[in-house]
Amino acid sequence: MKGVLLAGGTGSRLYPLTRITNKHLLPIGDRPMVSYGIEALVTAGVTEIMVVTGGTHAGEFLRLLSNGDEFGVDRLLYAYQDRPGGIAQALGLAERFAADEAIVVMLADNILERTFRSSVDSFADEGKGARLLLAEAEDPEHLRHVGVPELDGGGRLVRIVEKPDVPPSRYCVTGVYLYDPTVFEVISTLKPSGRGELEITDVNNHYVETGAALYDVIEGFWGDAGESIDAYYAVNDYVRRNGANRL
Ligand code: DAU
Repeated sequence: MKGVLLAGGTGSRLYPLTRITNKHLLPIGDRPMVSYGIEALVTAGVTEIMVVTGGTHAGEFLRLLSNGDEFGVDRLLYAYQDRPGGIAQALGLAERFAADEAIVVMLADNILERTFRSSVDSFADEGKGARLLLAEAEDPEHLRHVGVPELDGGGRLVRIVEKPDVPPSRYCVTGVYLYDPTVFEVISTLKPSGRGELEITDVNNHYVETGAALYDVIEGFWGDAGESIDAYYAVNDYVRRNGANRL
C-alpha cells in the first residue's frame, strides 16, 4: 500500500507561529512535526510515500526529508499544492502516484502514540471501500473542533458531521484514512464547501452512504497539533513524555 502525507494548507490557527514557516516544520519534541507522519507511515509498513505541501516553504521539506533514506522510506515523492484548496483537493494531487492502488492518507499535523499498522494490514486484505481511524475523546468539548461520526445501535457508521455544535458520538475522526483507488473518482465529483475547500468529510460521507466505510478505534493518545496553539503545546508535552508511533 502507498502512503500520502498531507502537509499543505495555511496553518492559520497557529498564527503567528506559522507566519514565517509551514506548520508541519514546527518542532514537536526534538524534531519537525512532519517527520512524525513519515515515521508513522514507515512503522505501519508503508515505504512508498508522497508528501503534498505548498506555500513558500516547500523547499524546506526536501532539505529535511531528502529522499527519505534516513527514515526508511524506499521511494519519496513530492507534490506542490498551489492553493490551499482543502484536504480532498490536496489528496487529488496524488492520483497518478497512487496508480490504482489502495492508499493510506495521513494529515501531517496528527500525532499518534501507537502505530496504526494493524489497520493498514486489515485494509490491505480488504482492498476496497474506506476505513477510518477514530479516537475516543477524553474531553467532549474537543468534539466541536473535529469530524465526529454518528453511529447506529449496531455501531455502524451513519454519517460524519464536521465540527458539530451537538456531537453525535464521543469519537473524533482522526486524520488517518484508508481508501481504495475509487477515492479519486469521488474527489472529482466534490463541490467546494462554504469555506471554498474540497472537504475530506464529503469524501468519507460518500463511502458511508454507499455502505463501504468501516472504522477502527485507535488505542493510545491521538492529537491534532494544528488545532490551536494550546493543542500544539499539549501534543508537544505528551510526545516529550511518552514518545510517538510506538509498536
Ligand atoms: O485532525 C483531524 C481532523 O482533520 C478531522 O477530524 C476533520 O474531520 C478534518 O476535516 C480535519 O480537520 P482540520 O480542521 O483539523 O483540518 P485542517 O484544515 O487543519 O487541515 C489538516 C491538515 O490537512 C493540515 O495539517 C495539512 C492538510 N491540508 C489542509 C488543507 C486545508 C492540506 O494539505 N491542504 C489544504 O488545503
